[in-house]
Amino acid sequence: MYAQMVKTDAARVRSLDEMEPHERAFQERVDAGQKIEPKEWMPEGYRKTLVRQISQHAHSEIVGQLPEGNWISRAPTLERKAILLAKVQDEAGHGLYLYCAAETLGISRDQMYEQLHSGKAKYSSIFNYPTLTWADIGAIGWLVDGAAIMNQVPLQRCSYGPYARAMVRICKEESFHQRQGFDALARMVKGTPAQKAMVQDALNRWWWPSLMMFGPSDDASVHSAQSMAWKIKQNSNDELRQKFVDQTVPQAKYLGLTVPDPDLKWNEEKGGHDFGEPDWEEFFNVIAGNGPCNAERLDARKKAWSDGAWFRDGLTAHAEKAADRRAAAKIAAE
Ligand SMILES: [Fe+2]
Ligand SMILES: [Fe+2]
Repeated sequence: MYAQMVKTDAARVRSLDEMEPHERAFQERVDAGQKIEPKEWMPEGYRKTLVRQISQHAHSEIVGQLPEGNWISRAPTLERKAILLAKVQDEAGHGLYLYCAAETLGISRDQMYEQLHSGKAKYSSIFNYPTLTWADIGAIGWLVDGAAIMNQVPLQRCSYGPYARAMVRICKEESFHQRQGFDALARMVKGTPAQKAMVQDALNRWWWPSLMMFGPSDDASVHSAQSMAWKIKQNSNDELRQKFVDQTVPQAKYLGLTVPDPDLKWNEEKGGHDFGEPDWEEFFNVIAGNGPCNAERLDARKKAWSDGAWFRDGLTAHAEKAADRRAAAKIAAE
């Protein structure tokens, strides 16, 4: 099935000669590394791809607060609690910048929330896994934020201006997230054998879902070819996954941990690691809504939406009254 989707996708990537003049002009600007800004002409497919990608990215930041927020009240020390609180608040900020960037493409925040709540829009599959111990919080920072950085650093050079600029700040904050996670684990592995075992268990559970964050192999990825041509995407999923493995394996060694992959080994010839294949069936199953925490995560977001209804209603009522008062004052002045 996926091979077929690729074929259709590849057929959509057209050469400059096949394009209408305005589309060719757009592609030439992208090719020259110029940024595309909100009010400029863009192909409908480019707009739609960005809306999908940016809104799903925003949803991931917001839903991503849930597994970690779960541990704020149980952080082992005041210092760890303050760090985690700051980190989770950063994720809220990331969501907000990204919703704003998506709004510049003509979709409203309410529409995006509706797509999330109805299951039409996806978010990163990783956030559908549970955080069972404190070591999971360290593992999320180290591995999940680590993988997010790999994905997001190239997005700073994305062709769409508002998305690229949002990424600059987000990437700075993500690197703090990655370090705080690694630091928490580095402390734990020097603790009791039980603490070290807890860290190893967290790595065992988070390793493969982290590798899945880069998406399926490029031959199975529906959107890759056109996104690369539009410079929405700069690297293939497999390239980024390779980089992540090569960066993370020495860090695991430094922590004295074993990466749970029997096929993992250094390949001198390619100057990188060989590693096993993630379970893509599990990935597609989680994306389809059947992960361990999908229902819980969506319920939490829907509850937040309905709990906030009184506030949105209040804002709308105030805005209407203020507009009426302004209109009345204008009539009185005439
Ligand atoms: Fe983030
Ligand atoms: Fe983060």
